[in-house]
Amino acid sequence: MTALASVPDEFASVLTGHATALELSDGGHCPMEPDRWRDRAAGGDHWLLDRCHGPTLDLGCGPGRLVQALRLRGLPALGVDKSDQAIAQCDDRGVPVRRADIFTSLPDEGRWDHVLLADGNIGIGGDPVALLRRAATLVRAGGSVLVETAPGRRGLWRGAARVRGGVHSGVLGQWFAWAEVGVDAIVGVALRAGLRVAEQGALAGRGFARLGLVHGG
Ligand SMILES: C[S@@+](CC[C@H](N)C(=O)[O-])C[C@H]1O[C@@H](n2cnc3c(N)ncnc32)[C@H](O)[C@@H]1O
Repeated sequence: MTALASVPDEFASVLTGHATALELSDGGHCPMEPDRWRDRAAGGDHWLLDRCHGPTLDLGCGPGRLVQALRLRGLPALGVDKSDQAIAQCDDRGVPVRRADIFTSLPDEGRWDHVLLADGNIGIGGDPVALLRRAATLVRAGGSVLVETAPGRRGLWRGAARVRGGVHSGVLGQWFAWAEVGVDAIVGVALRAGLRVAEQGALAGRGFARLGLVHGG
């Protein structure tokens, strides 16, 4: 298996279970849950799954539990991840996945019914407005971008993160751009990306929003 040329794999040690926290550049920490990612979809995942009714693209899918659950529901679904570790774990599960950076060309752009940004993935790239603009190019008119907001965070936070073995354990990676979007900030962030919040909700301690295109949806 060939790694994507010169693409950093920041989450490799999380995906293998060796790291369970992100250290944020504001001094905070964000727990990572690789055991939950590797498990079957459960709990709050159902908020996302229950809003998918057609072809779904999971951006930063990790080991692919959401793709697996959607396909078990009979829905077409594809994961995208740039990490070799994620690709290997998806392959082990037998779920379809594309090895790619989500900011590069992806299959069926503009034709997906739903795009998922789960488990903090709205932080990918460190600029949630740019990320949501990118997600908006992937869905069809009338489709939705389903996102998870950060528990315990107020407002939009942009900075850097690095992977640690645990909150009090050693650093396992370099700083990379990261962001968090609190439940109170998602309306403004979405609007700046040309999206509107159609629904917000919470399940099992996790917060979510369903976004639609302001024009054409
Ligand atoms: C916070 S983890 C989320 C894990 C995932 N949602 C799951 O269920 O396991 C972030 C994931 O996004 C992937 N990722 C980060 N930046 C990416 C990018 N620019 N393009 C594609 N995948 C990316 C990482 O490799 C990692 O698997």
